[in-house]
Amino acid sequence: VVGGLEHLVADRALAEAGRHQIRLAEHEMPGLMALRAEMGGSQPLAGTRITGSLHMTVQTAVLIETLTALGAEVRWASCNIFSTQDEAAAAIVVGSGTPEAPDGVPVFAWKGETLAEYWWCTERALDWSGTGHAGPTAILDDGGDATLLVHQGVEVEKAGEVPGDEAAENAEHAVVLATLRRSLEQDAQRFTRLAAELVGVTEETTTGVHRLVEMHRTGRLLVPAVNVNDAVTKSKFDNTYGCRHSLVDGLNRAVDVLLGGKVAVVCGYGDVGKGCAESLRGQGARVVVTEVDPICALQAAMEGYQVVTLEDVIDQADVVVTTTGCRDVVTADQMSRLKDKAVVANIGHFDNEIDMAGLQSWPGVRRVEIKPQVHEWVYPATDGPEGRGEHSIIVLSEGRLMNLGNATGHPSFVMSCSFSNQVIAQVELAQNVDAYPVGVHVLPKHLDEKVARLHLDALGVRLTELSADQAGYLGVPVEGPYKPEAYRY
Ligand code: NAI
Repeated sequence: VVGGLEHLVADRALAEAGRHQIRLAEHEMPGLMALRAEMGGSQPLAGTRITGSLHMTVQTAVLIETLTALGAEVRWASCNIFSTQDEAAAAIVVGSGTPEAPDGVPVFAWKGETLAEYWWCTERALDWSGTGHAGPTAILDDGGDATLLVHQGVEVEKAGEVPGDEAAENAEHAVVLATLRRSLEQDAQRFTRLAAELVGVTEETTTGVHRLVEMHRTGRLLVPAVNVNDAVTKSKFDNTYGCRHSLVDGLNRAVDVLLGGKVAVVCGYGDVGKGCAESLRGQGARVVVTEVDPICALQAAMEGYQVVTLEDVIDQADVVVTTTGCRDVVTADQMSRLKDKAVVANIGHFDNEIDMAGLQSWPGVRRVEIKPQVHEWVYPATDGPEGRGEHSIIVLSEGRLMNLGNATGHPSFVMSCSFSNQVIAQVELAQNVDAYPVGVHVLPKHLDEKVARLHLDALGVRLTELSADQAGYLGVPVEGPYKPEAYRY
């Protein structure tokens, strides 16, 4: 606590550098700035307490300051151990004060957290006891970790005990169980009280939405959730065009190998995979795609990509990128059979797409740190087919999402689309929650179209207007929405 402000960031002295970047980002985030101009006066988020668990980047800084401009109180943690930009975190903490007397927003995030630190940060961001409240009125989540902690907290408080470590699915789950155990010992009703104050959740990404849908299906979801990911102006932009930009950015900053002519495998051809494949092709890589869904496989084929199984190309691939949100997509055995110095990277949300645990326990394998978030895994000469000799692969961001671990994530303009949806979703929960019963909801289409509209001027887009006759002929209002719900864009 400094100057009354609770926080933990790498270095408050980075605030000035962060502030310069935030200023430039604001210029590239017309949607968020338009929402500030539109709603700053009416303060629709006054009285709300928002806990954010989302990559603490420069773009997120502009989101946080938009939420506060609309009246919200905010506490923040990152949703990934490597994704924080320390200068952005510092600038948000310092606010309009000085590094010695910060008066900004409580942030608990730094680049390179341990898993224990990560869950500590999430817990701190959820703790509003300093304001006389148990918790937030809303969670703004990315991947669902904050939402999960609250729900699991309530469940263990109901049960009166936390499952033993033998129930842990992996090292990270063991940390979550330890966090819950500590909480239960200190306060047997903490999460129950916290959940009672929670009005709803807005979720940023595909993986978090999967978790919410699963929680609702099994009757465990406690509050309404807005699925921001499936706004058209989110998933068809951020997931695709954002990754089209930041995948190659991450590869270049990490290893800087020429991509032209190389064989690049993109596992998964959904929204993220489409952007990744396009950017690799743009660099002249020979891109092949793997898919389980026949529709996405056919789309990839129509775009001219060869669709293969990973096994088909395991000995030819120079770069393997996972974009599936699935688990065990690249196995330890497959990694051992890759070409010498092949690059393995994941851009999906969690680190289980690449079997990191299997890699770590591979007989004789040795890890060499090239630099933070870039590791060479060296196999002994005795590994693999006879005569292969010593060989290695390069794994980025320890298997965690590499565009945020090795680079700075998506650029501002595309995040303005995503975060405008987040702000509108938070305003909906604050002002109009009755329209959203417990369940997982997408925002109405007119709001999706509004987010797109907010970004047209900056690109010099001139929209054609329907005449009343034309609108009548199509059966849509002149001012939209223009498409039926089933339309897929
Ligand atoms: P999506 O559902 O549109 O695409 C995933 C694709 O992977 C699907 O087409 C699915 O059929 C395919 N797939 C699933 N299992 C597979 C397997 N074993 N082998 C090959 N293909 C498989 O999801 P989306 O929106 O593309 O998101 C993918 C992941 O990326 C999620 O974890 C999401 O949270 C994350 N994400 C990451 C971003 C970043 O900045 N790094 C941005 C947006 C999303």
